[in-house]
Amino acid sequence: MSSPRETIFTLEATPFKFGAGAVDDAGWEAKRLGITRALLVTDPSVVAAGHADRVRAILEAEGIDVVLWDRSRVEPTLESFRAAAAFARESSVDGFVSVGGGSSIDTAKVADLVVSHPADAMDYVNAPVGGGRKPTGPLLPHLAIPTTGGSGSEATTVAVLDLPELKVKSGISHRYLRPAQAIVDPELLGTLAGEVVSATGLDVVCHAAESFLARPFDSRPRPGSPDDRPPYQGANPVADVWSAEALERGGRHLRRAVADAGDLEARGAMMLAATMAGVGFGSAGVHIPHACAYPIAGLKHEYVPPGYPAGHPFVPHGHSVIVTAPAAFRFTYAADPERHHRVAELLTGEPVASPGPDALPDALIALMRDVGAPRGLAELGYGEDDIPTLVDGALRQQRLLVLAPREPDADDLAQLLRDSMANW
Ligand SMILES: [Fe+2]
Repeated sequence: MSSPRETIFTLEATPFKFGAGAVDDAGWEAKRLGITRALLVTDPSVVAAGHADRVRAILEAEGIDVVLWDRSRVEPTLESFRAAAAFARESSVDGFVSVGGGSSIDTAKVADLVVSHPADAMDYVNAPVGGGRKPTGPLLPHLAIPTTGGSGSEATTVAVLDLPELKVKSGISHRYLRPAQAIVDPELLGTLAGEVVSATGLDVVCHAAESFLARPFDSRPRPGSPDDRPPYQGANPVADVWSAEALERGGRHLRRAVADAGDLEARGAMMLAATMAGVGFGSAGVHIPHACAYPIAGLKHEYVPPGYPAGHPFVPHGHSVIVTAPAAFRFTYAADPERHHRVAELLTGEPVASPGPDALPDALIALMRDVGAPRGLAELGYGEDDIPTLVDGALRQQRLLVLAPREPDADDLAQLLRDSMANW
């Protein structure tokens, strides 16, 4: 007898406040959440831009004590998470305010988790890489204030980390990690370099496309207990609404947002798209491009991305994701051609001229070219010899791969990576 299918989906989302000047409400929101002594989690570039000082002053004006942690790493590691958590514990804070990109928000999530339910961070990392432990109750309040329009981390239950000694990226994922409140203020985007906007914007597009194309929630077996229902549920009617809106905004505004730092309308639209996609993928989940992105970002540290602070070789997350997206969606096309066409239409704003497996990959490649994305894996330093190791790394992300509408095996992944060496 086959196991019964899932019949239930859940919508959970971070309450968020969006708009120019919204950051001025940070003190009011933190106080409302009951925070009296906050760990302000950020990184040096956000401090340099003046955002950390601004938020500190806003919090202090409401009578909240602020302790600063400005050592979030751009690509967080287990060590950087542990250091932040130890500092938070010593500082006796009763809440967290993160200001920055996905790495600062993720660092605050993990510090909050470890302070609220003491254990080593590795115990909470997704199995089989880590212990897969679940927190037993809610965490201390966390107010998330993104300053890049990309990760959507303010809306999700996930924190991502790099494990260089294992040459793999993994994550910690549980509904209690979702911040209690987010403030999304387009004025904080300021003067981000075009390359940064390109990478974060393409990440947004992938979040939305992967969620929209994820295996439907009702094709999963029903879990034995609500506790075993995964945070990533698969495509469902409510996640679709958010993902579709994010795709449309990404298609309409990303080119302009990359080309002109002064185009606050386009950059604001991308920031909203990032949060919307975060709600969508925080519910439905991401799959093949994100599974491949983990080893692509984790295996080699050679690529020095233009537009980022010099001397720190790494593959920006959005670029590690987008390079395999065309091949991934060519591979999944047969599972649901109509939904693939729909994603292409949302991105281009036009009906698909020649329906088929290349319609969506072509739309993505056109966007990648226009926003200066790397052409493919070869440009990031990878060759044929690296494929077995990359396949291995992607296969470790079973939590994501099971969400693909057509599940790839090792040979499929090898072919897909080969096809992603140069997308044009
Ligand atoms: Fe992502």
